[in-house]
Amino acid sequence: MGDKLLIAGNWKMHKTPQQTREYFEQFLPQVEGVNGVEILICPPFIDIPAAVEMTKDTPVKIGGQNCYYEKEGAFTGEISPVMLKAAGCEYVILGHSERRHIFGESDELINKKVISALEEGLRVILCVGETLQERESGLTFTVVESQLKLGLSGVEDKLSQIEIAYEPVWAIGTGVAAKPEDAQEVHKFIYSVLENLNPEGAKKVRVLYGGSVKPANAEAILSQPHIKGVLVGGASLKPDSFAEIVKIGQRLTA
Ligand code: PGA
Repeated sequence: MGDKLLIAGNWKMHKTPQQTREYFEQFLPQVEGVNGVEILICPPFIDIPAAVEMTKDTPVKIGGQNCYYEKEGAFTGEISPVMLKAAGCEYVILGHSERRHIFGESDELINKKVISALEEGLRVILCVGETLQERESGLTFTVVESQLKLGLSGVEDKLSQIEIAYEPVWAIGTGVAAKPEDAQEVHKFIYSVLENLNPEGAKKVRVLYGGSVKPANAEAILSQPHIKGVLVGGASLKPDSFAEIVKIGQRLTA
């Protein structure tokens, strides 16, 4: 999706439709005229219609935080990629660490979701990242490589529709982001894995960093050569702080 940095917000389980409208009323004027970065917000499913309506005719894109792999059927509580697309989403986040660790999603399940979302024409943000224990055991590269290969199995020829988010689990929601140079090292490794899967396709993938990104550290993170965007949780919930991160991205691009 071009060379623009992707500044993405993951609201997780926050905000009602009314709060979604209020958010965009405050957020949109602050990012007016920003054209050097791509802006994405992934709200809860129930807020997607309000988010799509509010961002119509603006460059802000909307995505889902998850989906199931079937198109429709008896799958109580699930949402399909067809539905996300029909509701106006362009992206879907898959394999977020909270899906993996709280809801027990396996690499195999995530891979089915990736395949299905791509078939519907959604762009996929596949999340990977090690736990603190894995990092301390020296397993970061092993874990990340395995999550990438299993998650992308069968879609290696579709890398131009995919972004990767490197989100070390120990940095998510903790206030402690990875050191920019440490993240850079893993990002570089991720590109090397992608190049092995598909040398041409790898060039089109943006590898985002996620985990306690905030206005105070966004510049240092986004300045790393292999970091092509950020996936922001907590700091995307306030229009002012997310707009600030967007503007940092824009400044670095200019
Ligand atoms: P955080 O979450 O920015 O609140 O750490 C990031 C994420 O989980 O995507």
